[in-house]
Amino acid sequence: MTEERSARRGSTELWRPADPAFRADPYPFYERLRSTDPAHRLDEYTVVVTRHADVSSTLRGPDFARDIERHSAAPAIDPVSVRRKERASNGGRSILNLDPPDHTRLRRLVTQAFTPRAVERLRAITERMVDEVLDRAAADGGFELIDDLAFPIPFRVISEMLDMPTDRSDELRDWSQILTATLEPTATLADLDAAEAAIGELIPFLDGVITDRRRNPGEDVVSALLAAEAEGDRLDMAELMAFVVLLYVAGHETTVNLIGNGVLALLHHPDQLAAWRDDPALDSVAVDELLRYDGPVQQTVRAPLQTVSYRDAEGEAVEVHHGEVVITCLGAANRDPEMFPEPDRLILGRPNANRHLAFSSGAHYCLGASLARMEAEIAITRLIRRFPDLRLVGEPRWRDRLTIRGVDRLQLAF
Ligand code: HEM
Repeated sequence: MTEERSARRGSTELWRPADPAFRADPYPFYERLRSTDPAHRLDEYTVVVTRHADVSSTLRGPDFARDIERHSAAPAIDPVSVRRKERASNGGRSILNLDPPDHTRLRRLVTQAFTPRAVERLRAITERMVDEVLDRAAADGGFELIDDLAFPIPFRVISEMLDMPTDRSDELRDWSQILTATLEPTATLADLDAAEAAIGELIPFLDGVITDRRRNPGEDVVSALLAAEAEGDRLDMAELMAFVVLLYVAGHETTVNLIGNGVLALLHHPDQLAAWRDDPALDSVAVDELLRYDGPVQQTVRAPLQTVSYRDAEGEAVEVHHGEVVITCLGAANRDPEMFPEPDRLILGRPNANRHLAFSSGAHYCLGASLARMEAEIAITRLIRRFPDLRLVGEPRWRDRLTIRGVDRLQLAF
């Protein structure tokens, strides 16, 4: 029945991660899905939801789990699914994929280390780093935003936060790009092999750092994690390692794209760029609109624990059962006109911009949200105020990915 309805609307054509046009600009596809088939069945085991209300209630709802490998009944027939299942059952999982009670336990422990104080401690350092980059750019008359600013800032900030050596930054950048490739719906077996090889190199590197920190604790988050204890409970070595890997990857791949996509959106909306440059009152709210407009994380997933019901465009029920997976499309929710009038316009003072779901919602709400906001605000405000005549040189190049969406190259002149 649902398949018939989808076929009638042509919406089976609208969710197509394998299509380069979809990856290049998914927003028109999202819009048509949301208006014609907002709870769109992809196959017997998968439904994509695109309305803000549905995405939000799915992320927050007690009827959903995050650990889809455990709950999905989809038979693992292709080699990629087989490998993913094997890896999940071998315990290679971080807080991001866990459900209560394990998630609650780990989240309680790591929240102790990830305090507002730990983030605030990094503000002055971030400002200094950004100014150093901009001084060099000023001397050169231009720069490439991603390699020169958007990547090094989050990388050095997370390294500072964890007190990690920065001399292997190129390798760490490669490793985290390799690891995030596995989040893509189009990931291949070769991508999964590469990720395992990267983990094989990353673990001994981190192991050395953690052993050293155990002997010589400092003010950093790794030391705080080693000391964190709640109700007699501690992180074990595997949990600590998985968490530090996640912080590294999350710290690199997402904030980079917030700065990159954000600056590009501003260059495409010169009136908004000028408004922000001239009005510091926008500093604390503008980043939320950038996250809403073109967020770095476009989708995540949940597994219903029992039968749940969405509404289609005509108000008819679309049921999803335990064993199936719901793709929650954050990027589509953030452009839902029911929540954000004129959703395709960047409006920096938008009163409800902070209702975006770019950092997810509910139990897995991004732990690094305030850190990412702080870094982007400092990087972008300093950039646009220091170089009022900022302009794009040539065409930006996008990374060909969907789950983690970002510009790869953005040459700027002033
Ligand atoms: C603009 C930058 C960022 C974006 C858009 C982002 C987005 C997200 C999203 C969407 C989730 C939840 C996924 C889900 O619900 O399934 C998440 C979780 C998480 N993020 Fe971020 N993130 C960003 C930056 C960071 C940074 C800088 C850090 C840390 C240094 C970080 C650490 C985490 C952690 C630890 C989780 C897992 C929380 C949990 O499962 O309880 N993120 N992030």
